[in-house]
Amino acid sequence: MTLKFDLQPSPAPRGDAEREAILADPGFGQVFTDHMAVATWTAADGWGDSAVVPYGPFALDPASAVLHYAQEIFEGMKAYRRADGSIWLFRPEKNAERFAVSAHRLALPELPVEAFLESIEALVEADEAWVPSGGETSLYLRPFMFANEVFLGVRSSRRVQYCVIASPAGSYFSGGVAPVSIWISRDYTRAAPGGTGAAKCGGNYAASLLAQAEAAEQGCSQVLFTDAIERKWIDELGGMNVYLVTSNGELVTPELGTILEGVTRDAILQLCPELGLTPVERRVSLQEVLNGLKTGAITEIFACGTAAVITPIGELKDVDGQYRVGSGEAGEVTLGLRQALLDIQYGRREDTHGWTRRI
Ligand code: COI
Repeated sequence: MTLKFDLQPSPAPRGDAEREAILADPGFGQVFTDHMAVATWTAADGWGDSAVVPYGPFALDPASAVLHYAQEIFEGMKAYRRADGSIWLFRPEKNAERFAVSAHRLALPELPVEAFLESIEALVEADEAWVPSGGETSLYLRPFMFANEVFLGVRSSRRVQYCVIASPAGSYFSGGVAPVSIWISRDYTRAAPGGTGAAKCGGNYAASLLAQAEAAEQGCSQVLFTDAIERKWIDELGGMNVYLVTSNGELVTPELGTILEGVTRDAILQLCPELGLTPVERRVSLQEVLNGLKTGAITEIFACGTAAVITPIGELKDVDGQYRVGSGEAGEVTLGLRQALLDIQYGRREDTHGWTRRI
């Protein structure tokens, strides 16, 4: 089943000069394009009302289910403008599939993969002029879905809103590729077995915010969580996955279960053998990380995600002290992987995996 997302014509709210000024220094997630793709679902009629419409607020009844029980999911992906002006997506089917997995976990209706892809392409085509060029800029795309049945009983909503918005983006972290500091949360966890940790739902991010605020107070950009049962195994950061580089050429990342299956995480697992590294997915204890930093068995650590791309981690901190990662500078392996990934996304390196898709 697919949906058609026809553009509803409307005058552009911002002129060329204003748009160009925004695109020259877009920041992250602050400005939104002229349109959004929408569709609705009802238990009685399924999916419908799909279109690309002018960007604007929703009218939400105060009793809408999402406002009370947080039945909501989202995705994060990017459209990249290449040197020849063409615009490409990176593994959009992976986002579509993960969106369906998240929908299932949050008892929301699954949007067919084809309809998801159609909505993304229709929005990027409508707002093509908003895809920045140069440097590591891109158009960040945020598909999301929420329960909007007007009802206070606790059950899955019979009415759902789907939407995709887009925002021109530079670096997620203000320092760009400069190494970030990470706070190890001792008080809070983000996900328990059987919970929603593997789904991309707003609730997981809401649950991370207090720990994230604690991290910020400690001068750190992100928080690292450990597992909810033993408080022993590293899980993921507030909004991204984590990788360790070992002195024997392994690239180690926590196994799936309670963490989000990141599209960037997966691309790195597939890409790293080409750079002479052995990918390893397994449980990793915090103690192993701290010991490895001391002995030199762990040489680099980095964060990865669509927004963060690959960001070097220069230091871990907790209530007991701080632990420098290698020299504290961005490591060679981290930067090499980062470059390889960006080169595929921007079409400068052959895409042997078939990951990129032209709009
Ligand atoms: C992404 O990387 O796209 C995310 O959704 C994470 C968020 C921290 C921006």
